[in-house]
Amino acid sequence: MVKGKIAIITGAASGIGLAIAKVFLENGAKVVLADLNEDKLIQETDTLKAQGYDCMAIKVNVTDEQAVKSMIDKTVEQYGRLDILFNNAGLQHVESIESFPTEKFRQMIDIMLTGSFIGTKYALPIMKQQQAGRILNMASINGVIGFAGKAAYNSAKHGIIGLTKVTALETATEGITVNAICPGYIDTPLVRNQMADLAKERGVEVEQVLEEVLYPLIPQKRLLDIKDIADYALFLCSDSAKSVTGQAILIDGGYTVQ
Ligand SMILES: NC(=O)c1ccc[n+]([C@@H]2O[C@H](COP(=O)([O-])OP(=O)(O)OC[C@H]3O[C@@H](n4cnc5c(N)ncnc54)[C@H](O)[C@@H]3O)[C@@H](O)[C@H]2O)c1
Repeated sequence: MVKGKIAIITGAASGIGLAIAKVFLENGAKVVLADLNEDKLIQETDTLKAQGYDCMAIKVNVTDEQAVKSMIDKTVEQYGRLDILFNNAGLQHVESIESFPTEKFRQMIDIMLTGSFIGTKYALPIMKQQQAGRILNMASINGVIGFAGKAAYNSAKHGIIGLTKVTALETATEGITVNAICPGYIDTPLVRNQMADLAKERGVEVEQVLEEVLYPLIPQKRLLDIKDIADYALFLCSDSAKSVTGQAILIDGGYTVQ
């Protein structure tokens, strides 16, 4: 599906970005792993290279326009083209609005929303010239429903869906598709740690917290497998998905249905 394609994935030193980088590499893509966390980025990319994959690490802060432009230029210099951009870098901060630090709010919008805009801005001229390309933006169920305590995250993720629609319209006749992926709770260390903290607070087992807190909200009564997301991303980057554009695709075990 992505054999021979050139992909940039931001936030690729960890979690979902790293998992998707691995799946793309296993499927024959060449991947630029981009992240702010240089040590982790180099360590993970070196491991992948040692396994025989064709990949490259680029340290980037997605809010730095020059650094993002340079990341895209270096990718084209190295591989000759850019087929896939996955705007995935992100972070979380939970606090009610009255005490939510304004600087934190600005930073989160800057990384998740403005960062995705900047990546898109510099990828588009190349993709338009190729008359081919795929842009994936990492949203969340927080992009379609509200969650108390997540003012910045929710605003950024709702914004990403708007950006996705506009980009899809501006590229609709250029062989480019642009979609937002909206996962629910994925079984990652981040989510497990949150559950572990809650379990400690309540003096119960993690599984019990899952049963009592999360599963009542998730019709499928399970956390998502990271591979569910990677496989869908793979499909969206394939030729078979050429008619799917401007969509916010919910992969959430039914969370937003009820
Ligand atoms: N984990 C979940 O359950 C879940 C669910 C829905 C959506 N998401 C989204 O998926 C994306 C990845 O989340 P994750 O769970 O893998 O988190 P993670 O913390 O494991 O990975 C995020 C990566 O982004 C990088 N990053 C942060 N700021 C950056 C910046 N300014 N420039 C470049 N890189 C930067 C971090 O260094 C980190 O490696 C995020 O956008 C998140 O909102 C996660």
